[in-house]
Amino acid sequence: MKFRIMVVDDEKNIRDGLAELFKMEGYDVEAMPDGATAHQRFQKGDIDLVITDLRMPGMSGEEFLKKIKSETPGVPVIVLTGHGTVKEAVQAMKDGAWDFLTKPIQDLDRLTLIVKRALSNRERRLKSEQLEEELELRKQSDVMIGNSAAMNRVMDLISRAAPTKASILITGESGVGKELVADAIQKLSPRKDKPFIKVHCAALAESLLESELFGHEKGAFTGAMTRRRGKFELANEGTLFLDEIGEIDQNTQIKLLRVLQERKFERVGGEETVEVDIRIVAATNKDLLAEIKKGSFREDLYYRLNVVSIVVPPLRERKEDLYVLINSFLKTFAAENNKPIDGIDARARARLENYDWPGNVRELRNCMESTVVMAKEREIHEEDLPANIQSGADKSWIRIPQGLTMEKVEEIVIRETLAAQKGNKSETARILGIGRKTLHRKLDEYGVEELTPVDEE
Ligand SMILES: Nc1ncnc2c1ncn2[C@@H]1O[C@H](COP(=O)(O)OP(=O)(O)OP(=O)(O)O)[C@@H](O)[C@H]1O
Ligand SMILES: [Mg+2]
Repeated sequence: MKFRIMVVDDEKNIRDGLAELFKMEGYDVEAMPDGATAHQRFQKGDIDLVITDLRMPGMSGEEFLKKIKSETPGVPVIVLTGHGTVKEAVQAMKDGAWDFLTKPIQDLDRLTLIVKRALSNRERRLKSEQLEEELELRKQSDVMIGNSAAMNRVMDLISRAAPTKASILITGESGVGKELVADAIQKLSPRKDKPFIKVHCAALAESLLESELFGHEKGAFTGAMTRRRGKFELANEGTLFLDEIGEIDQNTQIKLLRVLQERKFERVGGEETVEVDIRIVAATNKDLLAEIKKGSFREDLYYRLNVVSIVVPPLRERKEDLYVLINSFLKTFAAENNKPIDGIDARARARLENYDWPGNVRELRNCMESTVVMAKEREIHEEDLPANIQSGADKSWIRIPQGLTMEKVEEIVIRETLAAQKGNKSETARILGIGRKTLHRKLDEYGVEELTPVDEE
């Protein structure tokens, strides 16, 4: 890590001398003549340590120190004091200075040692902050569960694409697990120990998104008090996850395209070109090809993002995954809520299996959580399930898997209609256009009686 030190003193020979010394020690150094100039430069960022005189015209060293400690407390400040001003030094330590030295500085070795220690402490802190963030991330993102052919295909794609630098576009309905896929890509890539930055593109207004992505210079717009690094800079050497990419405006699309082509950009309100080494993963639940046709998404950007395409199918198309997902969520939430739950009875299980899951895995996860909370016994029963799943009352569709006999299809239609009518047989018969007697006979054959005790005749 290359550190940048700022030396502040109104005496030219002292600041030049110190600047020279630290340059020879291999640091980047900037020398400033007074507190105000120093503070201005400091706010642009990337200063790792400050050595400042206390008594200076204009903004004093004390004031500068306090500003740094309130704005960027992690940057160590070493103060220089005149002879016989122990009180000032003590006050500076109280205000958060790392250490102090009296002028004239005689022991240069001691000064360089203090600087070295302060910087290695800073480096440790920066690293542990990063580590904590990563641990947090691991905790949040659980493993991907699923054994269906469709999910195995997804996982296979992930493990093949992750080690490369290719841009990846993840598509699929809301709640299918696109973010989990992005997490898995990052974890399996050679960049796993580098930054993994997520941007939720839909959450930010147009103007904010641009500065969020590319950063801005101080004064680029009202409210831009300091220079700020954007997500592209923060993700350097790592992975940038652009979530809800379908939501970004035309202007930002053009800028994004350029970064993807050249891996270069400028901060908002700035001229300096910043180069980055970044792996892009994007996700959307929109149909981008349709957006391209409508003219709201750029085709060239689409092809840049979609070098590798991972489509996560909706849960209703991989019902084989339901069983393992249900069991896993059941276990998790039972443990979380301290409830000794063993299983699910057949009726409740049938309800879960017949439901359509428009909100996909997210909906299933929420459903299992509320079910566990509601459960009164060790086994889950139908009445513990969320109301819309219990009776299928909200369902206006009946889904019928392929490969069934006509008899079986008829049975499903009758069962589902009856369930949607909350067991009301007259209403069911009316809707299906069959006689009540016929309905009764068929229900007897299916053994449906027990399943629907509610009859409002
Ligand atoms: N295969 C899976 N195994 C375990 N949990 C899953 C799986 N897929 C999704 N989940 C869980 O479902 C929830 C939704 O997943 P995620 O946020 O990744 O969906 P998404 O596709 O990004 O949705 P959106 O488009 O709404 O952002 C999360 O809590 C996630 O942990
Ligand atoms: Mg998401």
